[in-house]
Amino acid sequence: MPNVVLVGAQWGDEGKGKLIDFLTVKADYIVRFQGGNNAGHTVKIGGDKFILHLIPSGILHKGKVCVIGNGVVVDPQALLKEMDELTAKGIEVDRNFYVSEACHIIFPYHRQLDLLKEAKMGLLRIGTTGRGIGPAYMDKFSRVGIRLVDLLDEKVFARKLEANLEEKNQILTRIYAEQPVRASEILEPYLAFAERLRKFSANTSVLLNDALQKKKNILFEGAQGTLLDIDFGTYPFVTSSNPTAGGACTGTGVGPTAIDTVIGVAKAYTTRVGEGPFPTEFDEELSDKIRKEGGEFGATTGRPRRCGWFDVVILRHAVAVNGLDSIAITKLDVLDILPKIQICTAYRHKGKAYEHFPQSMDILRESEPVYEEFDGWQCSTKDVKKYDELPANAKKYLARLEKLVGVKIKIISVGAERGETLFLESIF
Ligand code: IMP
Repeated sequence: MPNVVLVGAQWGDEGKGKLIDFLTVKADYIVRFQGGNNAGHTVKIGGDKFILHLIPSGILHKGKVCVIGNGVVVDPQALLKEMDELTAKGIEVDRNFYVSEACHIIFPYHRQLDLLKEAKMGLLRIGTTGRGIGPAYMDKFSRVGIRLVDLLDEKVFARKLEANLEEKNQILTRIYAEQPVRASEILEPYLAFAERLRKFSANTSVLLNDALQKKKNILFEGAQGTLLDIDFGTYPFVTSSNPTAGGACTGTGVGPTAIDTVIGVAKAYTTRVGEGPFPTEFDEELSDKIRKEGGEFGATTGRPRRCGWFDVVILRHAVAVNGLDSIAITKLDVLDILPKIQICTAYRHKGKAYEHFPQSMDILRESEPVYEEFDGWQCSTKDVKKYDELPANAKKYLARLEKLVGVKIKIISVGAERGETLFLESIF
């Protein structure tokens, strides 16, 4: 297998977990490169359902090397809990698992500040997952963050924590009228977390570049999605990292020349959680119907996802900013029930048509989607094993999507199980 970056082409929750699980079979290394435990990658194997928040889904396959790259923000408590849960289910986590010592650490004050800020913003809130992701990345980019390598050295950790708390406590007490945080509340438990993580910590850039030298294959596992990217998403209603393909390099310490192909994952419709513009959003009735049919509730927070029609404008944007070579369409079966299906091909705003994703959130919010309408197929696609066996109207819908997006659809998923996947042609 070549070195593959797999990214979400919409607002996250595209079903990346299942695709990653598939590709993992052929990969030697599986690497997370951004985000944190705001992600929730669901993988169903037989009767078992696994939701992974931080550890690459590759951990479910024996003998694969799983890496959390430097671009990820790590909540040690959440990571250790996930490791314990996997161990309890008989999954081996002890070997072949590495965490970059350059990962920035999420502390309780990051989670607290995330929630306080959201509450303060009221109607302007972003609708974050409340996991402290944004505040941890803020510290990283303000150059005051505490990394795993710091946590592993008691003296360095104590010094950096004191310095951080001085500032954080000003914010907590003066802006939010909260109690200050004492260093002792954090030091002891976090030193204990560090001890457990010590043997997993590594210079993962060196590890991955060594692997490349040895011609090993790497699968870069994107979390969230293109429209949640801090640079290319619906800013400010985004996450605080780069879920787009470029993040695979900066978040791992592997150069762009090592990447052979980029695959984008998109649902056959669109969803988003949290606030922010969503031009093709359904009315409440249709949203409820599709949410129920597709189980559209957040894998991390359980929040109901907003649902809407497939949007070609955002897909074309995802193709461009990620350099997508191919697309996987997931959850086609969820549309089985609909008599009519629409695809948004452009936006119209004050008489002007937009075929490219506008940067202005006001334009996006006020835009009217331009739709093409299709007859639904109204029969089950769940048991379909080959593309040719799909109903004629489903094939028409997919062919039109492919033409409008301009990139080959190479995988179609019609259910959560591994077997419910159609390969149209080799992805490599
Ligand atoms: P944060 O990443 O918790 O700061 O949240 C910022 C925005 O990204 C919110 O709209 C979240 O709902 C969204 N978000 C974060 N992680 C995910 C994810 O894994 N799937 C879908 N949306 C996400």
